[in-house]
Amino acid sequence: MVESKTLVTFSEQETFLLGKELSRELKPGDVISLEGDLGTGKTIITKGIAAGLDITEPITSPTFTLVNTYEGEITLHHFDVYRINDPEELYAIGWDEYFSDDAITVVEWGDRVLEMLPDNTIRIRINRDDEDFNKRNLNIERLSK
Ligand SMILES: Nc1ncnc2c1ncn2[C@@H]1O[C@H](COP(=O)(O)OP(=O)(O)O)[C@@H](O)[C@H]1O
Ligand SMILES: [Mg+2]
Repeated sequence: MVESKTLVTFSEQETFLLGKELSRELKPGDVISLEGDLGTGKTIITKGIAAGLDITEPITSPTFTLVNTYEGEITLHHFDVYRINDPEELYAIGWDEYFSDDAITVVEWGDRVLEMLPDNTIRIRINRDDEDFNKRNLNIERLSK
């Protein structure tokens, strides 16, 4: 069954904390797809997740490298697939292997490669509010156990 919940944040800090809290529910092997326009907060959530995993290294967008890996309580792979033109580029850097180890994997723009993500991927769709510049509506969808 698919479990879906919608949350609202009003600041970068709140979105960061949402990521940090989410990280407590994560286990090795989990994959999170972050979906939403540029500037909606995908990287901010990733920073929160990293903080929750006790990663102290600064998180930077892997826009050109496609993926960055951080060592924490659990290893974190952070993808940003915004710039890929062809999914083959991901296979070329060993995409499948990233999911087979005991890490948590976050994929910014995961909706662009949805068919390449595992079935039990946690999807987070972020929308900027029409009226309030700092408000974000976040829908979190995951398969319930
Ligand atoms: N509620 C909010 N949640 C997250 N970011 C917010 C929020 N309100 C304003 N912002 C701003 O939006 C931007 C989000 O940036 P970023 O996480 O890099 O976006 P993305 O990775 O989706 O392109 C930051 O500049 C942040 O300060
Ligand atoms: Mg980003």
